[in-house]
Amino acid sequence: MNVRRLTILSAFLLLALTISLTAPRSEDQKGAFEYDKFEKPETCQSCHTDIYQQWTQAMMSQAYTHHWDEIEYFNLAVAHSELDAAVKPVADGCNGCHTPLAFLAGDVPPPRPAENSRANESVSCDFCHTVTMLAGDIPHNFSYVSSPGRKKYGAKPGLTSPHHDTEQLDIFREAEFCGSCHNEKNPYGIWVKSTQLEWKEGPYAANGVPCHVCHMPKAPGRSAKMAEEGMVAQHLFHGAHDEGKVKGTVEIRMHPEERELEYDDVVVLKVQLFNGKTGHKFPTGSVEDRIVWLEVEARDASGKTYHLLVDPKGFPGEEYTISSRELAYQDMGIPLKIADFAGVPREEAGEGNRVFRQAFFDPQGRMTIMQWNTASLGVDYRIGPRETKVETYTWELPDDIAVGKVIFTATLNYRKLVKPVADFLKVPAEESEIVVVNRAETWVEVYD
Ligand code: HEC
Ligand code: HEC
Ligand code: HEC
Ligand code: HEC
Ligand code: HEC
Repeated sequence: MNVRRLTILSAFLLLALTISLTAPRSEDQKGAFEYDKFEKPETCQSCHTDIYQQWTQAMMSQAYTHHWDEIEYFNLAVAHSELDAAVKPVADGCNGCHTPLAFLAGDVPPPRPAENSRANESVSCDFCHTVTMLAGDIPHNFSYVSSPGRKKYGAKPGLTSPHHDTEQLDIFREAEFCGSCHNEKNPYGIWVKSTQLEWKEGPYAANGVPCHVCHMPKAPGRSAKMAEEGMVAQHLFHGAHDEGKVKGTVEIRMHPEERELEYDDVVVLKVQLFNGKTGHKFPTGSVEDRIVWLEVEARDASGKTYHLLVDPKGFPGEEYTISSRELAYQDMGIPLKIADFAGVPREEAGEGNRVFRQAFFDPQGRMTIMQWNTASLGVDYRIGPRETKVETYTWELPDDIAVGKVIFTATLNYRKLVKPVADFLKVPAEESEIVVVNRAETWVEVYD
């Protein structure tokens, strides 16, 4: 080996060393603890009955076993990592958030959910309650530090339990704890999940209202069978999979500029969309999957209905925020080994509807739902916490419009997963069913 090569090699090693020393330590925890260092949720159940039952109904207890997670992890992420070694660390990393015990045990990929291994515990009691600190400045990519053992950490000081020791740690009241899994940066350096970061720059962080207030609300009761009465953090973790949580998130009102029109006039409608309920943007989290769109219809006095097209605002990248018939998600063809895959429809939301979303793009610039294969992000047209967006609809009255009252309805729809993708990957229908977030109505009177 000549001197020049040696210099390059040592420079490279030094760089690698620097990167490994400055990177969050989360990666290093892979394989650090055997499964049996953690207690099973059923052990906690005997005393923490209510909390246990709440948790079993929350997505936290299904983060590994849920159908769509299984499909995306095995059919897309693991399959992709088998074709491209560079994807292996990120596919292993899925488990750092979805089944931390399997990740910490180095059991990756874990057995399929049907095999009923301990990976199925998903985000478990003993996982969360043995986190002692967070590594790095910005919580993300499972940057929790795990210290399993007899001591269970929580938000309250001085509690006693016959089964374990307890210790109060501030992180249990802080949004940063949640951010260790609810923020994700992918290998391209893209923030593909940023719920805690969105919260942090919004009004709720400024008002000192962490995630817990809305997702773990406190109510009077006993946290354990033998405990004193007090205010207890309910382990609801309810979000996109709870219709009631999603409904009413955005309030909508709509009015025309003119109430009375001639039959050949132009109607101008304005729709106000106020996000009064989420502490982060709507949608948040799996932004690559979620779709929220506004549909406006007119019904004339004869009962005939018309679909209205939103007025474009002219901002860069807006084409991804107006529904179309284009095809997208071609990169699913890579893990599925479909040569020259044409893709599936970008959305199934009619044409010309406003879509509140942020598009994810693969390295070829095509829209993707594979967040690990995301090389850039499109314009962020989601609705921020306490933000109000206004959409305008300019509609030339059709020649055959019936004279009389024209009633307009605006419907804000939500799907957890874009339907063409759900259908293509055979994800059970509940993941792509429509939830109506809200509706509004207004009217004009047409004279001849
Ligand atoms: C034999 C009963 C029993 C079992 C089993 C048990 N706990 Fe507890 N735990 C308690 C009692 C009692 C308290 C104190 C509650 C109080 O006074 O409000 C408690 C308190 C806690 C706290 C609050 C700590 C704090 O400082 O805020 C956490 C967290 C906790 N337990 C987690 C767990 C986990 C996780 C398991 C299962 C691995 C578990 N417990 C199993 C009885 C039990
Ligand atoms: C995603 C992490 C997470 C999971 C999973 C989780 N907890 Fe908690 N738990 C917390 C946090 C955070 C708090 C403190 C909330 C607060 O005070 O605002 C808490 C509080 C508690 C408390 C004290 C409640 C109180 O207010 O007195 C007990 C007891 C407890 N958890 C037990 C459990 C048990 C048992 C399970 C599993 C069935 C479980 N936790 C699952 C994060 C978690
Ligand atoms: C170990 C990682 C981890 C931590 C820590 C964590 N979460 Fe989660 N959380 C997840 C995963 C993974 C999911 C997705 C479950 C799924 O749908 O597969 C999730 C889902 C959720 C959901 C959505 C449920 C739904 O219906 O779609 C809410 C709400 C939530 N978490 C709130 C919190 C809050 C609040 C905290 C902090 C107290 C927290 N999480 C801490 C990993 C974590
Ligand atoms: C002011 C109340 C509020 C606060 C604070 C809040 N959320 Fe939410 N969150 C909601 C509502 C309402 C929804 C349901 C609408 C939706 O899906 O976005 C939701 C949804 C979610 C979802 C599901 C999103 C999806 O599309 O799957 C996750 C995950 C979540 N929140 C995590 C968090 C985390 C983490 C924090 C703190 C960093 C937090 N939330 C703070 C109200 C809140
Ligand atoms: C940094 C933590 C983290 C990593 C790494 C991560 N996820 Fe997630 N994942 C989450 C959280 C948190 C949610 C819930 C967000 C929400 O509710 O919108 C989620 C949601 C999902 C969902 C949607 C679940 C649903 O029911 O709608 C799928 C599917 C998923 N993840 C698959 C994966 C795959 C595959 C990987 C690896 C390539 C991965 N995740 C890596 C934290 C993570």
